[in-house]
Amino acid sequence: MEVIIRPDATAAVELVAQLIQNRIASCPASVLGLATGRTMEQVYASLLRREVSFEHCTSFNLDEYIGLAPDDPQSYRHYMQQHFFSHSDFWSDNTHVPEGDAEDLQQAAKDYEELIRNAGGIDLQLLGIGEAGHIGFNEPLSAIMSRTRDKCLTPTTRRQNAAMFGGDPEQVPKRALTMGVGTILEAREIILLATGEAKAAIIAQAVEGPITSMVSASALQLHPHCKVVVDHASASQL
Ligand code: GLP
Repeated sequence: MEVIIRPDATAAVELVAQLIQNRIASCPASVLGLATGRTMEQVYASLLRREVSFEHCTSFNLDEYIGLAPDDPQSYRHYMQQHFFSHSDFWSDNTHVPEGDAEDLQQAAKDYEELIRNAGGIDLQLLGIGEAGHIGFNEPLSAIMSRTRDKCLTPTTRRQNAAMFGGDPEQVPKRALTMGVGTILEAREIILLATGEAKAAIIAQAVEGPITSMVSASALQLHPHCKVVVDHASASQL
């Protein structure tokens, strides 16, 4: 695990965007693992400003709320369209988000894993982190070898994500379809980005604490090519 500390959030975001840009410059047909959340909005904005071409890329998002249709304004598919895909030259057929409104969620999870495998696996996985240490929606007690599946969201996560649901945690779906920790660890390269004071305690646990299923992000310590990019505020408890 390589920890890279930048003075502020903008510098951390720009570094992550630069690393993605470099990756695509050296391999235009990269398979990218993409993340959502407020932190990532800045990364997508930077990639769009840099006019990076995603014409030959394929993408797989980490997760989707269960019960939300792709065109629901609160779905992660909608988030990706709004913040990134519809402003980029990504081919829409090449962008994938788990099917949160599938009738058979178990089958949808299996199919997602197969799609990733058929694309040759993920070259570069981008990650944010939840305040309880989740990556994707792998809440505490997610097995390190877990695969894409249906996961119950904790009250902490529902509170943390309430802003996107009019501020009411009760409006946040109770479950999500998420890549597993094991799925994430199979990516050839991983970049986790965290900014702000609110992430400082969990970053310290993920980076310097024991590897435990209570903090899913701590499993990243096992990955041979993982960069953790943080600003001073998120690094303040390291
Ligand atoms: C959601 C996503 C996570 C992301 C987290 C961080 O919970 N499922 O993948 O890491 O948000 O969100 P933010 O960047 O808003 O703090």
